[in-house]
Amino acid sequence: MKERLKPKIRKPRNLFSESKKVTVSLLSVFLLFIIVNTFFYPSFYSDSGSIRRNPVVSRENPGKSHKTRVYMYDLPTNFTYGLIEQHGVARGGEKSDDVTGLKYPGHQHMHEWYLFSDLNRPENERVGSPIVRVLDPAEADLFYVSAFSSLSLIVNSGRPGKSGSGYSDDDMEESLVGWLENQEWWRRNNGRDHVIVAEDPNALKRVMDRVKNAVLLVADFGRLTADQRSLVKDVIIPCSGRIDAYEGELGVKKRNTLLFFMRNRSRKDGGRVQDLLFKLLEKEDDVVIKHGTQSGENRRVAKQWMHTSKFCLHTDGDASSGCRLFDSIASLCIPVIVSDGIELPFEDVIDYRKFSVFLRSDVALKPGFLVKKLRKVKPEKILKYQMAMKEVRRYFNYTHPNGSVNEIWRQVTQKVPLIKLMINREKRMIKRESIEPQCSCLCSNQTRIIHGV
Ligand SMILES: *[C@@H]1O[C@H](CO)[C@@H](O)[C@H](O)[C@H]1NC(C)=O
Ligand SMILES: *[C@@H]1O[C@H](CO)[C@@H](O)[C@H](O)[C@H]1NC(C)=O
Ligand SMILES: *[C@@H]1O[C@H](CO)[C@@H](O)[C@H](O)[C@H]1NC(C)=O
Ligand SMILES: *[C@@H]1O[C@H](CO)[C@@H](O)[C@H](O)[C@H]1NC(C)=O
Ligand SMILES: *[C@@H]1O[C@H](CO)[C@@H](O)[C@H](O)[C@H]1NC(C)=O
Repeated sequence: MKERLKPKIRKPRNLFSESKKVTVSLLSVFLLFIIVNTFFYPSFYSDSGSIRRNPVVSRENPGKSHKTRVYMYDLPTNFTYGLIEQHGVARGGEKSDDVTGLKYPGHQHMHEWYLFSDLNRPENERVGSPIVRVLDPAEADLFYVSAFSSLSLIVNSGRPGKSGSGYSDDDMEESLVGWLENQEWWRRNNGRDHVIVAEDPNALKRVMDRVKNAVLLVADFGRLTADQRSLVKDVIIPCSGRIDAYEGELGVKKRNTLLFFMRNRSRKDGGRVQDLLFKLLEKEDDVVIKHGTQSGENRRVAKQWMHTSKFCLHTDGDASSGCRLFDSIASLCIPVIVSDGIELPFEDVIDYRKFSVFLRSDVALKPGFLVKKLRKVKPEKILKYQMAMKEVRRYFNYTHPNGSVNEIWRQVTQKVPLIKLMINREKRMIKRESIEPQCSCLCSNQTRIIHGV
């Protein structure tokens, strides 16, 4: 370097020997570098804690695509197609010779099927996807665990023991985590670079502590503890709506009902506000309240009213009522959200206040307040809300080619730098005994496994 800075005026005969010197010294520096790296710092290149040869500075390979590389585990079929079979058998169906031909039963937790199917599609059909599937785990940035954890919960629903299927969700959960903990890729980073789908609030509940390091795809945080969940590492995903999109004319002409409210009479928790609202609203004649759980007939009723009401009420509680929020967006029925702690998907890009009315539950429960407020909303404002919903509804549509599936992968992709940070940081951390939770990275209670000591 120094030579280059020298003034240009040099005696010509010196030029040759000068450049020779430079070449020789550069060569020796290079040789020294190779020797030192090969013999003295082998760990720079082969970190005992990792399987891939990781450089000190990890950088995206400039020649390759910038897409996040996802490896989908080839899970034993009893965590995927086998569950579809079990679900069928519990309902009087036959065992199948080739389970991979089975059709996933339609229900509100079909997201796990759509994500799985998306990764199974040939790469050339996955145009516009923010991720690329890799078949070699050593190339992966992230690992996708495609177990149908939500379907597992309803295999036997309403069909206890005697149905003969003998299926147990608890066994499935234990066996899945046991399988994962046997994978070297899982053990490498303690599951941090894994993505696990558990949309139903009860999915994987039993083993959540053992998979909590992973990026969890969940509907809400209601039943997760403070050290299991975090908006920083997890992704809130919509449940798959079951109601057809409203394609008619916008505005209020075809919407004569002020407020539609589908109430789940059988719910146990989170239902207090719903019960009180029901008592307040049942007397109003421009409010329609229906009772019912998910069923074909109730869907027909819900569609009819969601397509003809200006507002649709959504109260706190279970995931099923959460689905109704996405059904009302598909119906362009303005959501009225009375659910103080609700988590909503894609909030980094979607401002829900542009098409929803949020009300604190204590305010919503003041007699007369809610209907008075809604009746005052001008038709122009309603039209504005409807147009905003029309713009965002693809985000909640799993069958849209640029819908929920791509958006979920986009969210997952954004976690990658953070996951890398946590992995590197965790490997050098010394375990400290502390009662206080550690929240500098993610809240944890110091029970992590220490690597690389
Ligand atoms: C699922 O399959 C694996 C591997 O074939 C097996 O070890 C496990 O016991 C099975 N789990 C259940 C719940 O059937
Ligand atoms: C920390 O969490 C683990 C499981 O994640 C739990 O078993 C343990 O009791 C917790 N410890 C404390 C001190 O809270
Ligand atoms: C109704 O509530 C019950 C009990 O909480 C719950 O199991 C069911 O999934 C709910 N159904 C709907 C459609 O909200
Ligand atoms: C979802 O998208 C598909 C494909 O664009 C469309 O046919 C369907 O009507 C949409 N459904 C909803 C509920 O928006
Ligand atoms: C899909 O959606 C994303 C943002 O949500 C957008 O950037 C992208 O251009 C869309 N792709 C297509 C093919 O419409």
